[in-house]
Amino acid sequence: MDIKKRFHNIREFLKGHQGFWYEEILNDYPHTLDNYPDKWIEDLNLLSFEDLWKIDAKIDFSPLEGELKTLILKINSLSIIPQVEGANENLPHKALLGMNQKKVHEVSRLAPYIGKLQKIHRFSQGFDIGGGKGHLARTLAHYFALPTICLDPDLDLIKAGQKLLKKISTPENAKEISFINKSLGTHIYNPDIVADENELKLDNETLAIGLHTCGPLSLRLMERAKNLINIGCCYLKLNPESEINISKTSKEDPLTFSKYSLALASRGHGGISFIDFMNKWKVKSFRYSLHLLLYEKLGIKKFITVEGYPLKKYGEDFSEYALTKLSELNIKHSFDAADLNNFHQEWNPLVKKMFLANIIRWQFGRLLEVYILLDRAIYLQENGFSVEINEIFNESISPRNIAILALNN
Ligand SMILES: C[S@@+](CC[C@H](N)C(=O)[O-])C[C@H]1O[C@@H](n2cnc3c(N)ncnc32)[C@H](O)[C@@H]1O
Repeated sequence: MDIKKRFHNIREFLKGHQGFWYEEILNDYPHTLDNYPDKWIEDLNLLSFEDLWKIDAKIDFSPLEGELKTLILKINSLSIIPQVEGANENLPHKALLGMNQKKVHEVSRLAPYIGKLQKIHRFSQGFDIGGGKGHLARTLAHYFALPTICLDPDLDLIKAGQKLLKKISTPENAKEISFINKSLGTHIYNPDIVADENELKLDNETLAIGLHTCGPLSLRLMERAKNLINIGCCYLKLNPESEINISKTSKEDPLTFSKYSLALASRGHGGISFIDFMNKWKVKSFRYSLHLLLYEKLGIKKFITVEGYPLKKYGEDFSEYALTKLSELNIKHSFDAADLNNFHQEWNPLVKKMFLANIIRWQFGRLLEVYILLDRAIYLQENGFSVEINEIFNESISPRNIAILALNN
């Protein structure tokens, strides 16, 4: 894949469609809805919830037609990232002890991939930054000939990892695994835990690894490492002013992100079940109705954040939800349960329209993530690395599944 060419194409496309992805549907209501052509919403409104789910979950776009279909297929084609090669191997059962299903999948894909790199590059050390309990570090040291250090500021995770290590028998020819209870760069909860230069040997012989390094931790890794493999996550923790558009190429004509667009990039973009989709409809229909009630009946025009609400309570009437939220927000009113349920029913067509608009907006999430990651890949190229970017995990098991490999030439 030509990384720069793809990046330019995505940037132009996203610029031309910023009205869809920049704001949440609620933030700038009713103006946000103006971006969605009536015809698209009408077409979606004719579809069953099952068809809508298939579109939302990216399972089947055949119910769509016309311009909307063209738009969504374009988003999908721009979002395609090649699959990594050499990332599949069945690890022995004991290697996977203590891991949940997601971690088993991730380690079974990532460790053999790093093992293949190790056969070629013979790194003297692996350094797993934010390595948690050290599942990946242990697997690399035990089965892929890479002595690995697991660095994490969370002492409980390190202790759990050390305890597990004692329980698991070490295979013959295993390399060393060790733990360091420190952070890379300042840690938000514990500023005294920063690893110093002697502890952080990220030199030419070392492969730095960051599996799901949240927000800016990926950037700290890229600034320091000479060889790295990184799978980022939690883009909503990034500062949209300074931690997006990090390459010189992007700075020539940067795409502006809001915190809502970063949140959209951070979502799981595929794999939702029909039940979860219908739950999403229930949650959004209550949330949107409440917003409309505040806006249209109580004259509260600005977006207000509300607390969470237990999923099982969405099976009750809207009035239960609305009365709870109005009370939590200390908003005086004279509505009774019947008024609120009637409002919910009366405004349902607009609520559905907002839900349908959100299905269109949702389609942009993966492409925003790809923009952020290609920018990182170009930043690394500009700093002299040879770079590959590949999908490594199954998106429905581990949604943050794009790995950047950057090696010092
Ligand atoms: C999303 S978890 C990923 C854990 C592990 N790599 C995995 O995939 O299971 C992010 C980890 O980064 C650690 N972390 C947070 N800030 C850090 C920092 N500044 N330096 C190193 N690790 C950090 C957290 O304690 C946490 O274990």
